Amino acid sequence: MFFAACVSLSLVVPLLALVPVPIWTQPEQVHLSYPGEPGSMVVTWTTFSKAESKVEYGLLGGRLFEMTVGGKYTLFVDSGEEKRKMFIHRVTLTDLKPAAVYVYHCGSDDGWSDVFSFTALNDSTSFSPRFALYGDLGNENPQSLARLQKETQLGMYDVILHIGDFAYDMHEDNARIGDEFMRQIQSIAAYVPYMTSPGNHESTYWNLGSAHIVSISTEVYFYLEFGLELLFKQYEWLKKDLEEANKPENRAARPWIITMGHRPMYCSDDDQDDCTKFDSYVRLGRNDTKPPAPGLEDLFYRHGVDLELWAHEHTYERLWPVYGDKVYNGSKEQPYQNPKAPVHIITGSAGCREKTDLFNPNPRDWSAFRSTDYGYTRMQVVNTSHIYLEQVSDDQYGNVIDSIWVVKEKHGSSAWS
Ligand SMILES: [Fe+2]
Repeated sequence: MFFAACVSLSLVVPLLALVPVPIWTQPEQVHLSYPGEPGSMVVTWTTFSKAESKVEYGLLGGRLFEMTVGGKYTLFVDSGEEKRKMFIHRVTLTDLKPAAVYVYHCGSDDGWSDVFSFTALNDSTSFSPRFALYGDLGNENPQSLARLQKETQLGMYDVILHIGDFAYDMHEDNARIGDEFMRQIQSIAAYVPYMTSPGNHESTYWNLGSAHIVSISTEVYFYLEFGLELLFKQYEWLKKDLEEANKPENRAARPWIITMGHRPMYCSDDDQDDCTKFDSYVRLGRNDTKPPAPGLEDLFYRHGVDLELWAHEHTYERLWPVYGDKVYNGSKEQPYQNPKAPVHIITGSAGCREKTDLFNPNPRDWSAFRSTDYGYTRMQVVNTSHIYLEQVSDDQYGNVIDSIWVVKEKHGSSAWS
């Protein structure tokens, strides 16, 4: 027995010694996010072996890397069968000068990333932030990706809003699909904050220019196995956040309230999705739960939400101002000038392996413009009264196929009457 153990050990040990185990302290999947505090930016990246978390940075034109700030890493163990381990590093930069350009790299003395740069967000309420927004961008067939990468590097955007559905799917192949997707978007996300609609657990908000932007999870209406309490917790959180944003001094400083969530309340796609139904869960809530779960349309309407951004449908659709399934245009000639209900945009056609969806041939009267081209939306919150939105078609080599100005002299629920 002892002999047998010795023989097998002596066979195994040299074999193990021959298999090199890669050391993965090289940073990858670098991305920025804005934590909502003026003058701050969070840098996040991944290593597959343990390493320190540092960012070295400095003002463009100044001495390179003259400042260093440390952060933390957390060990993430993927739930796939390989139980792959990765270290997620997060470093928060603070006291950044508004609108100044910073050059940075991240990592540690065991490996540094490439050099990237970003413009610190301007914390003034007169800042007119420019956004690219879209949902449903995947690792495979990411039609809009190259255009977005180039436009980001040309400095066309201050912030990216990715309204849910990433990678297709983050967890697949033991999360290697997610890793590859994060490498694909690094050439966007290492230069501008890449903000997302969160998954199942939390809602978040941030203020930029004259807008208060609220990101929510619509998934709590569908995955009840994660707990109905999540739905109610989010609803209560949202209500409080919207009440706070509606305090006169807050609404005066940031009169635009914009929501982003993955699954729309309305859409006219030719599938059986929630938004195709009159009694959409997201819009009206659920009666089949105990207690019944409230929907979002009334909550948003009562708190004077101006603009609602959605994705999930792999198409682009702009709606007329709508509430309770009825159109409330500002006027016949100027529907989006002082609209009498929130404006909805659905932009889920950035490109993924599921291709684009088809439309129902008979849209309802709230449907104003539809396109099945791959593409994404640009938005600029110009000032307290004007927002500009346009739709880029990737199929048409970047042509703008739709645009609107939303103009409001008055915000809040009193603007509806
Ligand atoms: Fe989706």
